Amino acid sequence: MKRAIITSALPYANGEIHLGHVASTYLPADITTRFLKLNGTEAYYFCASDDFGTPILIQSEKENKTPEEYVKIWNKRDHEDFTSFGIGFDFFYRTSSPENVIFVQDVFKKLQANGHIYEKEIIQFYCTIDKKFLPDRYVLGRCPYCKAEDQYSDLCEKCGRVPEEIEDPKCSICKNPPTKEKTRHYFFKLTNFVNELNQWLESDSYLQRDVKKYVQNWIKEGLVDWDITRDMNWGVPIPLDGAKGQVFYGWFDNHLAYISTALKFLDEKGLDGKQFWNSADIYHFIGKDIVYHHYLFLPAMRIGIGNEFKLPDYIPTRGHLMLQSKKISKSRNWYIGLKDFLGVYPADYLRFYLALITPYSQDDLNFDWEEFASRINSELIGNIGNFINRALGFTHKSMAGVVPSVTEFDSSDKEAQEKINNFSGELTPLMENNSLDKALKKIIEFSAHFNQYFQKKEPWKGGAGSGNCVFVSVNAVRSLAISLYPFLPESSQKIWEQLGMAGSVSEQIWSSMSEIKIPEGHKIGAASPLFKKIEASDIEANKAKLGK
Ligand code: MF3
Ligand code: ZN
Repeated sequence: MKRAIITSALPYANGEIHLGHVASTYLPADITTRFLKLNGTEAYYFCASDDFGTPILIQSEKENKTPEEYVKIWNKRDHEDFTSFGIGFDFFYRTSSPENVIFVQDVFKKLQANGHIYEKEIIQFYCTIDKKFLPDRYVLGRCPYCKAEDQYSDLCEKCGRVPEEIEDPKCSICKNPPTKEKTRHYFFKLTNFVNELNQWLESDSYLQRDVKKYVQNWIKEGLVDWDITRDMNWGVPIPLDGAKGQVFYGWFDNHLAYISTALKFLDEKGLDGKQFWNSADIYHFIGKDIVYHHYLFLPAMRIGIGNEFKLPDYIPTRGHLMLQSKKISKSRNWYIGLKDFLGVYPADYLRFYLALITPYSQDDLNFDWEEFASRINSELIGNIGNFINRALGFTHKSMAGVVPSVTEFDSSDKEAQEKINNFSGELTPLMENNSLDKALKKIIEFSAHFNQYFQKKEPWKGGAGSGNCVFVSVNAVRSLAISLYPFLPESSQKIWEQLGMAGSVSEQIWSSMSEIKIPEGHKIGAASPLFKKIEASDIEANKAKLGK
């Protein structure tokens, strides 16, 4: 049996999940996992809250909570929000888990033993007013590469690079220019890995070509060794005597939680976690803002401990979500919280729309309220919902809910049957190569074909061949239920039940969507409309809430 481990970027335990998070990362990963599971892969989807780092410490201080209390709240809330969106993690853990702390310390020791760590005295920003060292987000300034203002000293959000030294620095707490103090830090020799990283980038055929190019250019421009120490107490403690009061940088420990989380789950399941990891396809779903970390730091660290855990096969990278064509901004209230959204519309509406507009590329995408309403109303409801409702409603009304027997197929019956037979063959390659938007469009086309077929055959007139039409159509509804499952897990189960099928749609075999499985004489379940139209007036109200 094929195996796969799927992860998506770990959300900072620092504020609610919003539409921008789910579009590029969690939804594509969830759809892929559900597809792989149906398609016979032993697949597990892991995630965790990203608990360490200065923003979290700063925020917990503001709220008079210990950082432990603070991250616990967000870990729980994030997991709840994901669950109500139908994101089906097999395990959602945390980077501050004891397992991860031990694992990270272990990795550090191995890197050190392998000659990839060195110590260096550095000059670090220090605020004499706040009396503390100022790592990362405690300092704001100008990016030395692209000259963007107001960037944090650990990541330029404009150009995606990690500044070597930020220009015109200011303390983010009191806004005064910091002074400088000496401190001893550990460095990870990223420069040791130039050849291996290049080799990996050239050989891994599943990585996106445009992202690879980007990364290869960074390597050409020259990598810098990486300061992995922070002078603070919130983080994984550095396991050495000389490093009291120092912890690892959050980007040293967080991606290791992909592995430590997987190991905990798999080992507890009675599997050999490490062996599973190394025999699985590894997928890390990310947004384009963290390419640097996932294409350079992460593989270098894995190589640095002797390839004990294999490198990713896929790092599906997608662009940012815009909102009404503007950049999402929490401070300007230009964002939509996932929980708020799901208080108004079903999860499957959002999944349908986002899956449809999110390509497999780094291009940005745009959430537009009007487009959301029109795509749901016309494509999900007017096309898919309409066909299902028609086919099943008619079977109830005119056939007492029993699938009729067939006579000889005419050319349109044959064509329809062929559509079913070819369906999985058309969808599978798209799902496998991450073109989830294109796969969903194929499903919509399939449904449109059957709407036309039903319309053309006019079974309500009771002519010869009505039975064929209903028989083939009910089977097409079954194909739709299975194909839609990765995208719309809740609705596809409803369709399954309306078909009167036993068990759960999640237990079906993906390729069986191409079989005629519902026999003559099968009694279907109760039919009722699956979806409710979105009103234009509600959309106006939703739009008016933005930016307020
Ligand atoms: N928390 C990080 C962010 O939101 C992502 C961490 S992904 C990890 O940018 F793999 F590195 F953990
Ligand atoms: Zn200060």
